[in-house]
Amino acid sequence: MSTTAVRLRPASPRTRLIAAPPDQLGAVAAVVVADFVRAQPNGVLGIATGASPMSLYRGLAAHRLAGLATEGLTLCALDEYVGIAPDDPRSYRSYVLKNVAGPLGIPAERVHLPGEVDDYDQLIASLGGVGLQIVGIGGNGHIGFNEPGSALESSTRVVELTAETRQANARYFGGDPAAVPQQAMTQGIRTICNAAGIVMVASGAAKAQALVAALTGPVTSQVPASALQLHPAVTVVADAAALGEE
Ligand code: GLP
Repeated sequence: MSTTAVRLRPASPRTRLIAAPPDQLGAVAAVVVADFVRAQPNGVLGIATGASPMSLYRGLAAHRLAGLATEGLTLCALDEYVGIAPDDPRSYRSYVLKNVAGPLGIPAERVHLPGEVDDYDQLIASLGGVGLQIVGIGGNGHIGFNEPGSALESSTRVVELTAETRQANARYFGGDPAAVPQQAMTQGIRTICNAAGIVMVASGAAKAQALVAALTGPVTSQVPASALQLHPAVTVVADAAALGEE
C-alpha cells in the first residue's frame, strides 16, 4: 500500500489529505476505517453508496478476513431513493446489504437507511451518533444527496435530484436518466457533520473541480462538500486525478 505526494493544501488545517494511486485508494481508506472499528467495535459506521467507496468496502472485508471484528457494527446509510422498493436491487438498502453488511457479517437488523423511520436524525442520536461517516462526492459537489443550494444546517429530508445527478446515476438504471427517481431521502449536511469523524473518498478527474472547490474554496451551500471544512476530524483519501494534479 502506498501514498503519493500532494501539492494541494486544504483550507482547513483540520482536514487530513492523503493522496494514493487509484488502485490503492480503497486499501488506504480501509485502514482509516479499520482503526475506527478497532477502537469502537460496536460503533455506528456511516455508509455512502456509489462507486467510489466500493474498494474501501472490499478492503474492510479483507481486514475482517485478517481478524478484524466488524460484526458488532451498526450501519447508517447516507441516503436512499424515494419510490424504489427496499428489496429492489437498485435500492441503496440492497447496495448496503450486498456490499457492506454481508461481507462484514452485520445482521440486517443493524442496517438503517433514511426513510425507514419518521425521524432519522433522532434514530442516529438514539444510537449514540455516527462514529465515523464515509462519504463520496458528486461531480457537482454534493454529499449524500445534498445538491448545490442545500442549507448547511439541513437535517434528513426528501430532496429533488438534479438533472446532472440523475444523468450520473443513470448507469444503475439501464442508462436511462428518466428511469432514475426524481427524489431521494438524504441525511442533511448538518446530520453528516454531526458524525464524530468523516472519511471522504474521491477518485477520477470528473471529481476534480468539485473536490478542489470543496477543499480550498469558500464554505458555501453551492458546494455542499465544502461544509466539511468546518468539521474537526475529516480525512480525505483521493487520487491525483481527483485532486486536479494529473
Ligand atoms: C451518489 C450518492 C453519493 C455519492 C455520489 C458519487 O449519487 N448519493 O452518496 O457519493 O453520488 O457517486 P460515485 O462514487 O459513484 O461517483
